[in-house]
Amino acid sequence: LAVLISRVRTAQSVEAEVGAIAEQVAGKAAADRRHTIETAMENRDKWFQADVSRELSRLRRAIRQCDDLWVRRFLWVTLAETVRLTSNDRTSTYKLHARPLSEIEKRNLSPIAVFKNLAKENAASFKAFRHRLSEAKRLKSSKYVAKTDARIGDTRNAQEYWADAAPFDLLMTSPPYGDNLTTVTYGQHSYLPLHWIDFEDIDPAADIETLRTTQEIDRRSLGGAASDDVWTEAKLLEASPRLKRFADALSAKPGDARVRLIRFYRDFGASLESIVDVVKPDGYMIWTVGNRNIAGQQVPTDLVLSELVEGLRCNVVTTLTRRIHHKRMPDRNASSATMREEKILLVRKIEA
Ligand SMILES: C[S@@+](CC[C@H](N)C(=O)[O-])C[C@H]1O[C@@H](n2cnc3c(N)ncnc32)[C@H](O)[C@@H]1O
Repeated sequence: LAVLISRVRTAQSVEAEVGAIAEQVAGKAAADRRHTIETAMENRDKWFQADVSRELSRLRRAIRQCDDLWVRRFLWVTLAETVRLTSNDRTSTYKLHARPLSEIEKRNLSPIAVFKNLAKENAASFKAFRHRLSEAKRLKSSKYVAKTDARIGDTRNAQEYWADAAPFDLLMTSPPYGDNLTTVTYGQHSYLPLHWIDFEDIDPAADIETLRTTQEIDRRSLGGAASDDVWTEAKLLEASPRLKRFADALSAKPGDARVRLIRFYRDFGASLESIVDVVKPDGYMIWTVGNRNIAGQQVPTDLVLSELVEGLRCNVVTTLTRRIHHKRMPDRNASSATMREEKILLVRKIEA
């Protein structure tokens, strides 16, 4: 889903009439009287009311009829938000958690109407974005002047999927701060929308098996599943004495905080190594991280990251603090207390 959104946003050429096209698509969907359901989702009835599934299917059929790939991608993104707002899932949390039946029965939803409104907003927002690019002289004959590329991949293998484009001058990223399941369940959050989107329109490498269960994307993410392909615990704890001290104070019983923490950081170490590899010597990296809580203790993510990158031929130039003014989701969940601050590490790779 992230790759899809990035491709829409960073495309060099876009369709200026996408707003009008979206309206036609909504019109086509509204005129479609068929009842065929366009998703193979097994537990569909749990997450969608029957008439919602019917309208989402009509939208999906109408989107598929568009010839232009960028237009379809724009419409899939709009459909994703439509799914979020019209499914039976609560919008108050990233985790999949169905609303109570009594509430579901009371909701009277039309995905086509929701889609139509969202498409209008998205088209206007996109138009404003392109206008800003134009003002900044970043468009030439309506085309973005630089090359853009969004790739799908696992950061533990960045050298593989960026091989032909690396090395890079600059890296800016915000990695996960812990395993998805106990921090932010990005995978569960993407699960319902992805069931309605054509994977071929995202990328040939987009793997439909990621929808095998509601847990699969989070399982494949950093800290999600034990794997041998990553740093050993010994290598990790030697690289970060700070992490070792923190881990030693946690309970080590199976399923406990320490196990989760170490599993995440073994993956994180492997992905740091792989990412640093695709950066030019002397190149800069900007890492934004938050300090999550585990077993009631705040993990010093920024300090651990500092120690880990310094062991990978890098220097931390400075660390900045950013206050988070706006968050879409509530500040508190079962395992992480309020996160109102983020740290931004400015890192430089040492010359070869
Ligand atoms: C804190 S979010 C930041 C997202 C994005 N960089 C931004 O700034 O908006 C971390 C992201 O990393 C993704 N992620 C987790 N494990 C990953 C992996 N092994 N490879 C690539 N991405 C991963 C998560 O799904 C999540 O979308």
